[in-house]
Amino acid sequence: MKISKIKILFQNELSKRYSKPEIEELFSIFCEHDLELNKVELRFNLDKDLSDVDSEKFLEAISELKTGKPFQQILGEAQFFGMKFFLNEHVLIPRPETEELLELAIDKLRGSGFKTQGFSNGITFPQPDTQQPETNNRQLKILDIGTGSGIIPVVLKKHFPYAEVSAIDISPDALKIAKKNADLHHTEIQFIQKDYLNEIFDSNLTENKVFDIIISNPPYIGIDENVEIDDSVKGFEPNIALFSPTSDALIFYRKIAKEADRILSENGMIFLEINQKLGSETLELFRDFSEAELLKDISGNDRMIFVKK
Ligand SMILES: C[S@@+](CC[C@H](N)C(=O)[O-])C[C@H]1O[C@@H](n2cnc3c(N)ncnc32)[C@H](O)[C@@H]1O
Repeated sequence: MKISKIKILFQNELSKRYSKPEIEELFSIFCEHDLELNKVELRFNLDKDLSDVDSEKFLEAISELKTGKPFQQILGEAQFFGMKFFLNEHVLIPRPETEELLELAIDKLRGSGFKTQGFSNGITFPQPDTQQPETNNRQLKILDIGTGSGIIPVVLKKHFPYAEVSAIDISPDALKIAKKNADLHHTEIQFIQKDYLNEIFDSNLTENKVFDIIISNPPYIGIDENVEIDDSVKGFEPNIALFSPTSDALIFYRKIAKEADRILSENGMIFLEINQKLGSETLELFRDFSEAELLKDISGNDRMIFVKK
């Protein structure tokens, strides 16, 4: 089958679910992934005949896209922070808001004198800053709560290779993907499979008793918000990653705030992605800390909380 024929099939078969520009974008994503043709190359190759195997892949993709399955799950991977990450139906698809949370964490850590390692994965990352104040040489200890596909600990370990990074998740299936991603990026991370809400953090659980950084993007959608969530999200991404397990949408944040007294080091920092509707309530939980700030994402929604002990 010619590529041009596949393109017409994409338009015809997916028009009920997606707009024309969305279909164009999806078509070019699959061409890039399966045929290694970028948008410009694609324009000059529309007359090319595909092998039966490649044609079959595209037809399969069309039938999966028609069901509303996210393209990242069909491909089994997503780009995040300029890096490739594996994923499947057991993990949340990485979101741009979480990239913003990581940018904030990396900036604050650099500002506190922790040195970043510049590395390249097709894009330019911040290089170690020679102007920064005296470098903090102490071993940085980081904990990620609800790690999912492991995007947060992998990106942090890439930037702070000397850090000791631990990551907890309740889902053994999610942790399999997280470990695959840690291997893909040659990062050493301590993964812990436990229910965070029912664990007491102590030396039985991790090698570390105290962390300098606690970071989390926990499930923060309240049960009452269930009806507002798009079916393509609810139907394909794990409910355990999306919804708070009780009617209290802040249950993870309450535990983090309470426990920080014991497991966050002096001057330690907390970075949290939050439910945009619960900005002030979430901030309130951290009012006894020396700094607590509510920050907006690029769309202007309350999305992150930064806390300093
Ligand atoms: C919103 S997802 C975030 C995943 C990933 N950190 C990201 O930003 O893409 C929340 C994660 O928390 C995990 N989780 C849910 N309940 C948990 C619990 N009680 N203890 C530990 N992890 C939990 C889910 O399995 C899911 O991977």
